[in-house]
Amino acid sequence: MSRIYVLHGPNLNFLGRRDPEVYGRETLAEIDARTAEFGARLGLECDCRQSNSEGTLIDWVQEATAAGVAGMVINAAGYSHTSIALSDAVRDFGGAGGYSVEVHLSNIYRREEFRRHSWMSAAVDGVVVGFGSEGYLLALRMIARRFELNAPRRGGGKRKRSRAGGG
Ligand code: DQA
Repeated sequence: MSRIYVLHGPNLNFLGRRDPEVYGRETLAEIDARTAEFGARLGLECDCRQSNSEGTLIDWVQEATAAGVAGMVINAAGYSHTSIALSDAVRDFGGAGGYSVEVHLSNIYRREEFRRHSWMSAAVDGVVVGFGSEGYLLALRMIARRFELNAPRRGGGKRKRSRAGGG
């Protein structure tokens, strides 16, 4: 099993009662349970965490970088649009060999102007937006696939082809 971090930013702890027409009716606990279960089937051990604090999220990304965690799914929520510091931490995670995917439940490009730019997007390997909580599962699928095609740049998993070999 490859360990990955699934990080949720501010206000996502209110999922289920927060703007359900935009974010759906599932709670974060339900999303995390489904994510962890799906991840396990793909050989990914998901460490799911949520914080309303920018500094805590940065600490967790740095922790993942230092520990050599192989992959990360991050929905930085409102900090996506404001936090260069968090995007710097995610960029460092990638620089150290981690593979990362940004997720947004809603289609941020179809919403208010201020949501249409994410500082995170240029720091991650891929972005999934607009598919609700299924987006986390899509992100996991892409991480597992990447690990399958290439050995994880860091951490566990199986090796089929080298990174130079394609993918
Ligand atoms: C969000 C989109 C952000 O603009 C917003 O601030 C959130 C949730 C999403 O998942 O769609 O909190 O990241």
